Amino acid sequence: MGVMNAGVLSLYRSSIGKKVIMAVTGLIGIGYVIMHMYGNLKAFLGRDYFNTYAEGLRELGAPIFGHSHLLWIARLVLLAAVVLHVWAAWSLYREAEQARSTKYVKHHKLQANLAALYIRVGGVILFVFIILHLMHITWGVPGVHPDFRWDDAYHNVVAGFQSYAYLPAIFYLIAMVALGFHLYHGAWSMFQTLGLNNHLYTRPLRLLSLILAIVIAGGFSLVPLAIMFGVIR
Ligand code: HEM
Repeated sequence: MGVMNAGVLSLYRSSIGKKVIMAVTGLIGIGYVIMHMYGNLKAFLGRDYFNTYAEGLRELGAPIFGHSHLLWIARLVLLAAVVLHVWAAWSLYREAEQARSTKYVKHHKLQANLAALYIRVGGVILFVFIILHLMHITWGVPGVHPDFRWDDAYHNVVAGFQSYAYLPAIFYLIAMVALGFHLYHGAWSMFQTLGLNNHLYTRPLRLLSLILAIVIAGGFSLVPLAIMFGVIR
């Protein structure tokens, strides 16, 4: 009995630890997507403005940091956050699968199961999206991007979305729906894990999660939509 309790307790503890990892790395991700979405909106201000911004990212932290140094530090932090986020998600998923055979799980609400399903499917879609997105607009892999130019980020975005009968733009828009769902459920889970789950806060935090999801996913969607409708050319 004692041994079993210790087992359950350590499982619980390790699950909490992983959930905290998910919440903290998720918060880093939210910070990143807010800045990235805001930066992308500069595409509405024209080629020069956008390219000056893209080049300016490399001068981030100057004169204390050298060319691209702070950018590379941010990339490494982001990469570590993504790796930890995926690892903890996978590990929690395995724990949940193993717990499925015990009978208390049957009492889980359908709603909670659906939320878990959305967040998992959304997570997988986003993972695939990020790889394709990097191949498309950051690395300009031939065949994925039709005409990549290292010195013209604005052109890479516009030509990248216009190519293949706007298929990339449509793919991005679908991915942004997945991003919205993932952010909504993820932000909500994060608030709970970080201990803000007092019932008084339930409604405001749900609303905050919803607003975050709509502003971020909606803001990202504006650029591909504007290119599809010829507002950005
Ligand atoms: C319509 C939506 C999006 C557009 C138009 C867009 C555009 C861009 C552009 C132009 C770059 C390259 C900047 C450069 O190298 O100069 C970039 C890089 C990147 N984007 Fe996006 N992005 C979008 C959505 C997203 C989302 C939703 C995520 C993450 C969930 C994301 C993650 C990244 C990452 C990780 C990089 C690489 C950053 C770096 O290494 O410097 N992007 N994006």
